Amino acid sequence: MTAVKTTNELIRPHGGTLINRVLSGKEHEQQLKKAQKSKRITINAWAISDLELIAIGGFSPLTGFMNQKDYESVIEKTHLSKGLVWSIPITLPVTEKTANQLKVGETVALYGEDDVLYGTIEIEGKYSYDKQKEAQSVYGTTDPNHPGVKKVFEKGEVYLAGPIHLLNRPQHDAFTNYHFDPKETRQLFEKLGWKTVVGFQTRNPVHRAHEYIQKSALEIVDGLLLNPLVGETKSDDIPADVRMKSYEVILKNYFPENKAQLAIYPAAMRYAGPKEAILHATVRKNYGCTHFIVGRDHAGVGDYYGTYEAQELIAQYEDELDIQILKFEHAFYCEKCKNMATAKTCPHGKEHHVHLSGTKVREKLRKGESLPETFSRPEVANVLIEGLKER
Ligand code: ADX
Repeated sequence: MTAVKTTNELIRPHGGTLINRVLSGKEHEQQLKKAQKSKRITINAWAISDLELIAIGGFSPLTGFMNQKDYESVIEKTHLSKGLVWSIPITLPVTEKTANQLKVGETVALYGEDDVLYGTIEIEGKYSYDKQKEAQSVYGTTDPNHPGVKKVFEKGEVYLAGPIHLLNRPQHDAFTNYHFDPKETRQLFEKLGWKTVVGFQTRNPVHRAHEYIQKSALEIVDGLLLNPLVGETKSDDIPADVRMKSYEVILKNYFPENKAQLAIYPAAMRYAGPKEAILHATVRKNYGCTHFIVGRDHAGVGDYYGTYEAQELIAQYEDELDIQILKFEHAFYCEKCKNMATAKTCPHGKEHHVHLSGTKVREKLRKGESLPETFSRPEVANVLIEGLKER
C-alpha cells in the first residue's frame, strides 16, 4: 500500500502520488512479527523524523531512504535520478561496523534510542559517501561550525537504502490538536473551502514581521497553513512546546477564525538555507499548499547565506516545483510610517526601523524582559517569557 487517494484536486503531490507507508490492521501485525524476528539497529531522532515524513507522505514521492543513484543525483543535480526536482538527500546513516552486519535483501527493525520499534527498512543497498561533497552541496560550506555540516561529520560512514514502513508513530504529545498528516491537511483544506493555501515554515515564534508577511499573503489566498517545524533544532532555538503556545495566542488574538490553521511539521531543521527552502516548499506542496512563503534568509543560520539567496535559488526551480513561491523582502516596523513595511513600501532610513536579532530576542526573553510591541505582540512575548521561565 503506497498510494493514498485524496479528494483535494488543488495541487498534486510531488511526483503525482501521495505516499503512505504507515501500516495498520493485518499488514501492521504481519510486519511487526517480521520486525521482531529481524536484526535491529538504533536510529537517532533525526532519522526517526525522516522515517515519519517518508511514511506519512510529507516526502512524497520517496518511499524509503535514498539509494546511491538518487543520492548522487540530488547532490550533483538537485534532482532525483528520474528527473524530479529534489534538493536535500534523505538518507539513513550507520557505522561501517553496523553496515557490515547487515545484508542486502534483508529486513531490519528500526528502534529509537527510547527502545521503541518505529519501523522497518528492506535493505536494497548500502553505500559510502563523501562527507565534504555532501556538506558543500547541501550547506554550501564545509565549515564544521555550521550546525548542519557538524551533523554530517558526526554521522555514520555508510548509508542504508531501501523502502520503509512505519509501525509505531513517534509521539508528539504536546501537539495532539495540531497533528495532521498531509492526507489530513488536504481534507481539512477542502472542508474549509480553501482552494488556495499558503504554507508558512518557521522555527521561531511568530513575531510582527512574520505576521506581516503571512497576512500580506492571506490577502491573495484563501487560507494560511502555519506549519512550524517541531523536530530537532539547535539548542539555542526556542523549544517547540513553548513556541506552540505562542502560535495559539497569535492565531486566537490576531487572525480571523477559519483563515489560519496550525499544524506541526515534524521534521529536523537542517539550517541549509537555499537548499532547505526548496525542500520546505516541496513538503508543503505535499501537505496541499498551493503557495509557499520564502522571506529573508529562509532556513539560514549565522552569516552562511545571503539575505535573498534562498529566494534566488528557489526561483530557478519554481516552474518544476509547481507550487507558487511568495518571496518577501526583509520586513520591519517603521517608527515613522507607524506600520510594518519593507524597503518596497517605506521611504525612511534604517534608523527608524525596529530591528532585533534572534540572539537579542532570546537573551531578553530568558531574562524575563518584555519585547517592544513594534517587534512582538505582547501576548506572544508573555507566553515566551513564561515558557522559558519554566525551563
Ligand atoms: S526559518 O529558519 O524557519 O526559515 P524563521 O522562523 O525566522 O526561520 O522564518 C520563517 C519564515 O519567515 C522564512 O520564510 C523567513 O525567510 C521569513 N522571515 C523571517 N523574518 C523575516 C523578516 N523580518 N522579514 C521577511 N521575512 C522574514
